[in-house]
Amino acid sequence: MIDFKSYLNNSVIQINNTLKELTSTSSFSGRESGGFNVMLEAMSYSLENGGKRIRPFLVVEFCKLFGGDSGKALIPACATEMVHTYSLIHDDLPCMDNDDIRRGKPSNHIKFGYANALLAGDALLTLAFETISKDTNLSGDIKSEIIYELSVAAGASGMIAGQVMDLQNENKNVDIITVELTDQLKTGKMICASGKIGCIIAGADDKCKSDALDYCRNIGLAFQVIDDILDVISTDEILGKPIKSDFINNKSTYVSLLGLEKAKKYAEGLTQNAVDSISDYDNNSVLIQFAYYLLNRIS
Ligand code: IPE
Ligand code: IPE
Ligand code: MG
Ligand code: MG
Ligand code: MG
Repeated sequence: MIDFKSYLNNSVIQINNTLKELTSTSSFSGRESGGFNVMLEAMSYSLENGGKRIRPFLVVEFCKLFGGDSGKALIPACATEMVHTYSLIHDDLPCMDNDDIRRGKPSNHIKFGYANALLAGDALLTLAFETISKDTNLSGDIKSEIIYELSVAAGASGMIAGQVMDLQNENKNVDIITVELTDQLKTGKMICASGKIGCIIAGADDKCKSDALDYCRNIGLAFQVIDDILDVISTDEILGKPIKSDFINNKSTYVSLLGLEKAKKYAEGLTQNAVDSISDYDNNSVLIQFAYYLLNRIS
């Protein structure tokens, strides 16, 4: 049995180091300008340490699980984190959730102003695709498959559709089916894309891909249920973002519809489904322990 906490810490350090390299000025040499300097500061501010790096970890671990070279997974993994970080910057804007703290620091728009926060989000999204395009470790075919998965997951029929529904659901009595679809889109799609990208890099077969997707669908939904629970029971300091945000915005969540206890039970069931779907492969139990880590997380 591995020491999962230190395994995860080491992986997060590796992801953070790669993110730093990918956003260092040397990666853009000859392309600097006054506007670029402002943007790079705003982008790096939100991308810096503080995130759990769940999506890049999934890319790397699914690549490893199916026998791929994890060194080849690191750059696409960081691209998923760039897309995720962009989504958080925009999610916090006053026109969306209007939250002033993110990853334990003032949100991007509090630090850099609304317009620059909007632009920093845009710039991180495009940087993700630039980063994959110029990755020299992967073939053109693999890169185009990754770009396809990431763009569909993040786009208008994926994460963005979920964000739209999340806003539409405010101040309404929506049913559980609608909340579930919202969560599958706004959170689940990017988590599923991360698993799929790991599979693509490893060259996994269709059966492996479908089991990986089962795992990701289940942890993706469980992840949002726990996010909604923590919004109610945690503190700003532990969570690194304002609690009661869902309540203040009158959001429909699993917690508002089911109550805390049933919501937790639901997340437990989903986690068990996730574990079952990969139990044939996960000899060293990294992804199984990861599913429980996500269920029991406090931030
Ligand atoms: C928060 O994501 C937004 C949701 C999709 C619920 P994370 O909880 O992964 O945020 P970081 O990346 O660790 O800050
Ligand atoms: C955000 O969901 C999902 C995305 C950013 C796509 P939430 O609005 O619940 O995330 P937090 O709670 O602000 O991190
Ligand atoms: Mg939101
Ligand atoms: Mg939010
Ligand atoms: Mg939330």
